Amino acid sequence: MNLLLVGSGGREHTLAWKLKQSPLCDQLFIAPGNAGTALCGTNLPIAVSDFDGLAAACLDNSIDMILVGPEDPLVKGIYDFFKNKKELAHIKLIGPSKEASQLEGSKAFAKAFMQRHNIPTAAYREFTSDKYLEGVEYIKAQSLPIVLKADGLAAGKGVLICQNHLEAMAEFELMLLRSKFGEAGKKVVIEEFLKGIELSLFVLTDGENYVLLPEAKDYKRIGEADAGLNTGGMGAVSPLPFVTDAFLQKVKETIIEPTIAGFKKDNLDYKGFVFIGLMNDNGDPKVIEYNCRMGDPETEVVIPRIKNDLVELLTATAGQKLSEIKIETDDRAVATVVAVSGGYPGDYEKGKVITGLDLTTLEDTIVFHSGTKNEGDEIVTNGGRVLAVTSFGENITEAVEQSNYMLDQLHFEGMYFRTDIGYEFKEASGS
Ligand code: AMP
Ligand code: GLY
Repeated sequence: MNLLLVGSGGREHTLAWKLKQSPLCDQLFIAPGNAGTALCGTNLPIAVSDFDGLAAACLDNSIDMILVGPEDPLVKGIYDFFKNKKELAHIKLIGPSKEASQLEGSKAFAKAFMQRHNIPTAAYREFTSDKYLEGVEYIKAQSLPIVLKADGLAAGKGVLICQNHLEAMAEFELMLLRSKFGEAGKKVVIEEFLKGIELSLFVLTDGENYVLLPEAKDYKRIGEADAGLNTGGMGAVSPLPFVTDAFLQKVKETIIEPTIAGFKKDNLDYKGFVFIGLMNDNGDPKVIEYNCRMGDPETEVVIPRIKNDLVELLTATAGQKLSEIKIETDDRAVATVVAVSGGYPGDYEKGKVITGLDLTTLEDTIVFHSGTKNEGDEIVTNGGRVLAVTSFGENITEAVEQSNYMLDQLHFEGMYFRTDIGYEFKEASGS
């Protein structure tokens, strides 16, 4: 089978690495890919939202299946584009339809979906500019902190947690009346602040059945001990010690099953990954958000823990046969630590030469590329997040230490990584 993977980050290098291991994978293409995916298949210089370009490449390369990594093409309707064109309809595309992708593309859509299907989540109301004054009154009546969310995709910046009412009212005005987040903020969701420990759960569904993938926790802040600005994610770990069978059972019954049943009831065409951001409040799970794709850097720990053949999993997804699949997981702990460009998540420079990639290899460690590209004989930085170093260990501490050790062997100008990923799960390592 010939496969096309859409995307260019650490998530896509991990997926490419896993797809390439399958005996069912003949040729693997990645659009546009990075220097890491180039080690697993053929990169094609096509942007993720250039649907015509992707379609032409599929026909040229006899592609049988497409896996879409990032949310942008999904929310823009790549699934519907391929499904509705006669010459492309034979290609299986793994990812939800445009309408179903609204679960990530519109916070108000996701909240209404959860309310309709009785899925536990924070209490909320949504407001547009014509209801501005009503919104201000609503804010005044809420307890603190208050969470404001721009409805649409805002590159991960659209969620504000306000510690006082004045701040919340000022931000509300900026979003609704002064276009702080452009179109994405024309509607604002105001919601209750949820307490607890956050985690990410991943489900692969064929619209009828689902399989649960390993859980993960990502570390979003730039600084050690979760200080400083939000980033795309500085690291991730799996499994999580507090995710017990009883907790998972509760998540299945109250969240996952109603979600999959909700897709059917609402006629949402969904064959793909569902990323469920959860808050665990003393054993009670609530949904913070849905994403219509795998997470990054969570993929870099979740996928290496899955023993199943990924092409087989995706084929079962496309053929609505996931009920026949049992997920086998590696019991070891896995951690990924992300190396970023100096200045990230603010301004940063690209094009810095990365050294050490070909010098050191460690058993049980994989260096996934996020923002990298080939330039002549060298590999250079090409984004804020540059490398995601994944390691296996007896426990999370051991896995993180091994990734940190590996990162000490790698170098590019301005390189920075957090050394404390998984800090809450620290235990004395084996020695
Ligand atoms: P989102 O873009 O919805 O993932 O929100 C970004 C981050 O904001 C989440 O990962 C949480 O850490 C935080 N967050 C969002 N909604 C809430 C909430 N209702 N209560 C507490 N924290 C939240
Ligand atoms: N790591 C969070 C995300 O992928 O959205």
